[in-house]
Amino acid sequence: MAEPQEPRACANAAQAAEWDGPAGAHRIRHAAVFDAEARPHNERFRAATGVAPADHVLDVGCGTGQSTRDAARAAVAGRVLGIDLSAAMLGHARRVSREEGLRNIGFEQADAQVHAFPAGRFDVAISRFGSRTRRSRVASWPRRASPMSGSPT
Ligand SMILES: C[S@@+](CC[C@H](N)C(=O)[O-])C[C@H]1O[C@@H](n2cnc3c(N)ncnc32)[C@H](O)[C@@H]1O
Repeated sequence: MAEPQEPRACANAAQAAEWDGPAGAHRIRHAAVFDAEARPHNERFRAATGVAPADHVLDVGCGTGQSTRDAARAAVAGRVLGIDLSAAMLGHARRVSREEGLRNIGFEQADAQVHAFPAGRFDVAISRFGSRTRRSRVASWPRRASPMSGSPT
């Protein structure tokens, strides 16, 4: 018998319903189009994140996971975690990561605003279009290489 799950903390129920509902389904259906559209921005974004080979990276609001996969390819000796409100988009992200043979990558359904991030786990936090809708402690991004904790720097 499956263990009972702790209820997930969520401070954005309406957003979660939208992103795990119609908006997420639309994004999944047209993932290739969205990623192609974002390509010019994505090149700059990737360069700006400056993910290094040993980095442990958090991707906030990863959606269908292109930026998470890019970070995993850069952090060859590290690890990348993508979090998002949408279980459906995370399912898509996991599937594509498996197809691309990425092993240093994981995805978790979580609300970044209230999720209990373990202190010191991440060197870098990134977000491609994923952080503009929140007023939250993750809106104050930790400096590169500083621990991700309840008290961002
Ligand atoms: C515009 S989409 C961008 C998705 C992806 N980063 C990309 O560039 O394709 C915004 C994403 O942020 C996620 N999101 C919004 N608020 C969030 C929150 N509080 N915690 C985690 N994810 C959140 C949504 O579920 C959605 O997938």
